Amino acid sequence: MNSDMQMKNDAGRQRKVFIKTYGCQMNVYDSQRMADALGERNFVPVDSPESADLVILNTCHIREKAAEKVFSEVGRLRKLKNSREKDGQGLYIAVAGCVAQAEGAEIVRRAPVVDMVFGPQTYHRLPDMIDQADGQRAKGQMVQVLETDFPAEDKFDYLPRNRSSKGPAAFLTVQEGCDKFCTFCVVPYTRGAEVSRPVAAIIEEAERLVAGGVCEITLLGQNVNAYHGLSENGETASLAKLVQRLSMIGGLKRVRYVTSHPRDMSDDLIAVHGELDVLMPYLHLPVQSGSDRILQVMNRQHTAETYLSVIERMRQARPDIALSGDFIVGFPGETDEDFEDTMSLVRAVGYAQAYSFKYSPRPGTPASVLKDQVDEDVKTKRLAALQALLNEQQMAFNRTSVGKRMQVLMERPGRVSGQLVGRSPYNQAVHVDFAAHDSAEKLDENGAHSYSDYMGRLLDVEIISAGPNSLQGRPVL
Ligand code: 5AD
Ligand code: SF4
Repeated sequence: MNSDMQMKNDAGRQRKVFIKTYGCQMNVYDSQRMADALGERNFVPVDSPESADLVILNTCHIREKAAEKVFSEVGRLRKLKNSREKDGQGLYIAVAGCVAQAEGAEIVRRAPVVDMVFGPQTYHRLPDMIDQADGQRAKGQMVQVLETDFPAEDKFDYLPRNRSSKGPAAFLTVQEGCDKFCTFCVVPYTRGAEVSRPVAAIIEEAERLVAGGVCEITLLGQNVNAYHGLSENGETASLAKLVQRLSMIGGLKRVRYVTSHPRDMSDDLIAVHGELDVLMPYLHLPVQSGSDRILQVMNRQHTAETYLSVIERMRQARPDIALSGDFIVGFPGETDEDFEDTMSLVRAVGYAQAYSFKYSPRPGTPASVLKDQVDEDVKTKRLAALQALLNEQQMAFNRTSVGKRMQVLMERPGRVSGQLVGRSPYNQAVHVDFAAHDSAEKLDENGAHSYSDYMGRLLDVEIISAGPNSLQGRPVL
């Protein structure tokens, strides 16, 4: 068969793609958009590599052993590819995401079994990359596609419209990249400089999502509150303005945003938390450390005090705000005293939820070459102490919900029949038991024939008990 015919065959046939996603919510969103882009070449998503013609590993580089994990996953896929080839069939293995961006050349060198390597800013070029791979394969050449440039064009102008989002809660990327250069972080290198999407493009995507049944949107950005997109009247819109604009979309009931930087918590953003019902009372505001000395070496551009003053102003605007944060223990040079400052800050804030990590030196970042790297066992001890405190706070916060009524967005079936799982305004998982409360007649009165009809809807729920990671409630019908 000549190469043109082979290409036509590949292009015409329905093929299957399996995407494995690591890391943050932006990667989840990106994976959906990759699936959308591949639809243009007749790919449909499947949920296991065994039946796929293309496997994409959408990788994360933020913490330890990222590249090693990718190489061992590739090792497993190599066996699948070999057995396929014995049967006369092919399998493309692709590595995408931040590890691809940071270590593309190394992946090509160390793992020639990988056919395609491409970074986060190139996903709109996926259909062309597939053509390129098909062309190489048809000619009997080794398939090798490497795209790790930061293209001049904006990928969002070229990606097909968001089609792969499922369920009542969706992600929407509004800003990407970061100019802050915290000394421990790879994001400015893997995701590039800060770029905001124009308001009109975001509104169009949000309206489309809402028309498809979405009622909660989480706006995504590595530095989301630094958003400064072109508005419909030609001026620059802040995140506060964007949220105001989104709140005018009928049918959109809830808006959240992640992840924010303390320096960019502007007065107008704090104020809209007190003004707009669509904005959920939840804020993820990483602080990383409570020690000013460490914060300075981290190049965080804020102090413990300025962070606490943001929290105070936020609580004035929205007293019931649930706070979440990110912490790093064992940053180079962190003493017991510095760590105690972190513990004191946590006590002063009272978090509803949080993420905490041991510092991991990321190649190419300034902190990775600092002297005074902290011993592993010290990091382990500090992390355990911090997590014990954070877990205590989370449990205490969850307990305050017991006896309250709150609106829960029903997102998925529970593990047992008669149960749905949703999210509270404060981002807690809530297990709602319909069967146990004999509410069948009430269901009927509400025009619902089965509890599963409540899926995708906002429902009043009375919280009856709390665990460390979730709440239990009964529907108020
Ligand atoms: N080591 C440990 N944690 C890190 N994070 C980012 N870079 C590192 C690193 N080198 C954490 C930060 C950030 C979160 C997304 O990941 O807390 O806010
Ligand atoms: Fe990384 Fe966040 Fe710092 Fe940007 S602000 S460099 S994404 S930790």
